[in-house]
Amino acid sequence: MPRSWVQQITARALSPVHKEVLDLRTEVEQLRAELQSLRRQTQAPGYAVDLLLGAQGRRSTRLISESRLRELAAQVSRVALAPDAYGHLVQAYRTLFELELRGVGRMAGAPGNVLGKLATTPLLDPPNGEILEIGTLFGMFAGGMARQISRAGLGYGLTVVDPLEASTELVVRENLALAGVDPSRMRLIRGRSSDRGVQAEVADREYGVIILDGDHSAAAVAADLRFAERIAAPGGIVLLDDYTDRNWPGVQEAGDSYLTGDTRFEFLGVVATTAFLRAQPIPAVITLPKEDGTGLSAARSRTGPAPAGNRLPRPR
Ligand SMILES: C[S@@+](CC[C@H](N)C(=O)[O-])C[C@H]1O[C@@H](n2cnc3c(N)ncnc32)[C@H](O)[C@@H]1O
Repeated sequence: MPRSWVQQITARALSPVHKEVLDLRTEVEQLRAELQSLRRQTQAPGYAVDLLLGAQGRRSTRLISESRLRELAAQVSRVALAPDAYGHLVQAYRTLFELELRGVGRMAGAPGNVLGKLATTPLLDPPNGEILEIGTLFGMFAGGMARQISRAGLGYGLTVVDPLEASTELVVRENLALAGVDPSRMRLIRGRSSDRGVQAEVADREYGVIILDGDHSAAAVAADLRFAERIAAPGGIVLLDDYTDRNWPGVQEAGDSYLTGDTRFEFLGVVATTAFLRAQPIPAVITLPKEDGTGLSAARSRTGPAPAGNRLPRPR
């Protein structure tokens, strides 16, 4: 049907408007596509980072906020008298990430707890690189500590003790190998720290670092502290794991009660949920605690810090 003159005039008048509407429509489509692509670009890294560090498929997240890391840095600085703790925590975070990515299983605990232990221990300048971990689980944290001791410029030697009920010898050895621990510089002692045979084997040397993370009952923690007292090198560092963890009240109960007694352990402070102690040199004659907690007088010759003969130059 032919268009009326009114329609023709209207169409002619509106023609530029139509063109403008078409142009705008095209532009909106282009912007929509661009927006979608930008959204994909911003969401994908967040999602991928969450896949690598988030809680999906694992027990607890490895994501940590800057404010939490700075709060930890303040704690490490107080305990280790190290003003530059933040950078050490950042480096420890990369170690945690790398070891868990490569290993079988996990390190126990929230990231703050793991990082606090990894970063604080070398800053406390242990007197030698002999590390004892009571309660190793998958062996992954022990591998991280060996790495940190190397970073402190010390040659590490690693002794781990565990009854291996929640993991296996194969897994512990694989994790230590994946962490780069030399098999000739580590020993895995299967059993409980309270076992006399285990203690005899462990007590053949003085340790610069002792990590108590086995049986968390108050009685067992007290027994581990008594044992640690006998085998810690002068100046040695003892980590009392989960000290302020409300899930394990026995740790703090035993630790506090132990430290009020006759001990050469000095309380240095708490980072995240770990208490750090330092063993004072053993005086020439000292009353060492017996396994039943009573005193035993003994003549000892260790009176000063161990010579740092095996100390390597500090890598930067
Ligand atoms: C919390 S997990 C250790 C986690 C490990 N230190 C880490 O940071 O990944 C506790 C471990 O202690 C071990 N354990 C329990 N009682 C023990 C004992 N009396 N002596 C040695 N290890 C013990 C358990 O088998 C378990 O593997």
